[in-house]
Amino acid sequence: MAKQKRKPVKITETILRDAHQSLIATRMTTEQMLPIIDKMDKVGYHAVECWGGATFDASLRFLKEDPWDRLRKLKAGFKNTKLQMLFRGQNILGYRPYADDVVEYFVQKSIANGIDIIRIFDCLNDLRNLQTAVTATNKEKGHAQVALSYTLGDAYTLKYWTNMAKKIEDMGANSICIKDMAGLLTPYKAEELVTSLKSATKLPIELHTHYTSGVASMTYLKAVEAGCDIIDTAMSPFALGTSQPATEVMAEAFRGTEMDPGFDQMLLKEIADYFRPMREEALKSGLLNPKVLGVDIQTLLYQVPGGMLSNMVSQLKEQNAEDKYIEVLEEIPRVRKDLGEPPLVTPSSQIVGTQAVFNVLMGERYKVATKETKDVLLGKYGQTVKPFNPEVIDKVLGEEKKNAITCRYADLLEPELDKIEAEMKQWKQQDEDVLSYALFPQVATEFFKYREAQQTKVDATIADTKNGAYPV
Ligand code: CO
Repeated sequence: MAKQKRKPVKITETILRDAHQSLIATRMTTEQMLPIIDKMDKVGYHAVECWGGATFDASLRFLKEDPWDRLRKLKAGFKNTKLQMLFRGQNILGYRPYADDVVEYFVQKSIANGIDIIRIFDCLNDLRNLQTAVTATNKEKGHAQVALSYTLGDAYTLKYWTNMAKKIEDMGANSICIKDMAGLLTPYKAEELVTSLKSATKLPIELHTHYTSGVASMTYLKAVEAGCDIIDTAMSPFALGTSQPATEVMAEAFRGTEMDPGFDQMLLKEIADYFRPMREEALKSGLLNPKVLGVDIQTLLYQVPGGMLSNMVSQLKEQNAEDKYIEVLEEIPRVRKDLGEPPLVTPSSQIVGTQAVFNVLMGERYKVATKETKDVLLGKYGQTVKPFNPEVIDKVLGEEKKNAITCRYADLLEPELDKIEAEMKQWKQQDEDVLSYALFPQVATEFFKYREAQQTKVDATIADTKNGAYPV
C-alpha cells in the first residue's frame, strides 16, 4: 500500500485562555499578555485561543478588567494570527440558557471586536442549542467551529459521533472540534475516532484535550497520523497537568516529517522565557498548585474532569467533610447516569458534582435537589443521550413533572435584550456593556461601579492639573 501523503499539522495556541484557566484560575491579566503578542504573532499558529470560556467572568469579577477592552487590544496586536474564543452554545459564557436575541447579539459583538473563530459547544451535545450561535456566526462572516463534548458511556459509540459530525456539517459549521475536557481520549481510541470522523465529513477536524491523565501528547500523535488537521497546545510554562501538551514539544515531535508545522524553536524559546517568571510567581504565591501538574489517573477511573475534582474538594472542605471524598467521587457517575449520562463540562459538570455532594452529605440520595438538577430533569438544558432515571424524576419533581418540556427551551423564552438594557442603562458606556450585564448582572454592576470610581479619579487629576496643582 502506498504511503499516504500527509499535511503539516496546524497548531492552536491556548496559553491566553485554556492554559491559564486550567492552571491558575484564569488570572492572567491583559497587561501580562500584551508585551509578548508581537512575538507570538510571528510563530505561524493556526489561531490563538484567547477569549471566552471563563476569561469573561474572571476579568470582570477578579481582575476588574473590561473583557471587551482586552479583546480589542489583542486584535490590535495580532495582525497575522486568527483569534479564537470558546462559546457555551445557548448558555453563551454564562451558566443558564439565554434567549436567542442575546446569543445573536453576543456573537455579533464578539466578531465586531476581533474574534475570527468561535468554538461552540453544548454541555449535553444537544445540537439544537448550537444552531442559533452557528447561524449568527455565519451571518457575521466568522468561522463557526462546533465542538463535540467528548465523553465515555454505552451511548457514545463511533456511530453516535459520526452521526453528530454529519449533522454538524449540515447545520452550517466550518470545522469540527473533538473537545476532550477531561483527558479521556487515549491514543488508539483517538486514531479510531479521527479516522471515522474524516470519512463521515469533509470538514477540518481539530482535537482539544488536557494532559490530566498523562496520555495527551501520545493521543495527539496518533490523531495527527490519522489525519487530524489541527491540535491545541500551550507554551511549556503553562502546559501539562490539567492544561494542554506543550507547544514546543509537539512542534519538535513532528520535525522533519510531512506533518512538521515548521515552527522556529528559538522564537518559541523567547516566548517561553517571557512566560516562565509568571509560572514561578504563581507557584510561589500558591495560585499554581503543584498538585494539578501531576498525572491524575482518577480522571480515567471516574471520568471526572480535573477542574471538577478541585471544586469538589473545596465544597467538601467548607462542610468539614473532606473524609467523604471517595464516596462523592463514586456518587458522581451514578448521578450522571440518573441525569441521562451527559458529558461533564460547564455547566453539566457543576450540576452533577454539586448534586453528588448533596446526595452524600444528606445521607439520602435526592433528599435535597438543586434548582439546576430540577431544571435538567425539566428539560431546560436540552435533551440527553439517554433517558433520565424515572425514580429520580418522581422523587425530585413530583407533580411538577407534568411541566417537563421536550422542545428547545430557548423557543419558550421571550427576547431579553430590551429589558436588560433598560435595567442597566445608568451604567452603559458602550453597547457591549449590555452583554456583560446580561451574563453576570451582579458582577458586571460591581465592575461598572469600580470603573466609574476610577474615571472620577482620572477626571479629578486632570482638573487638579488645570488648576495648577501640578507642575506643567
Ligand atoms: Co479545554
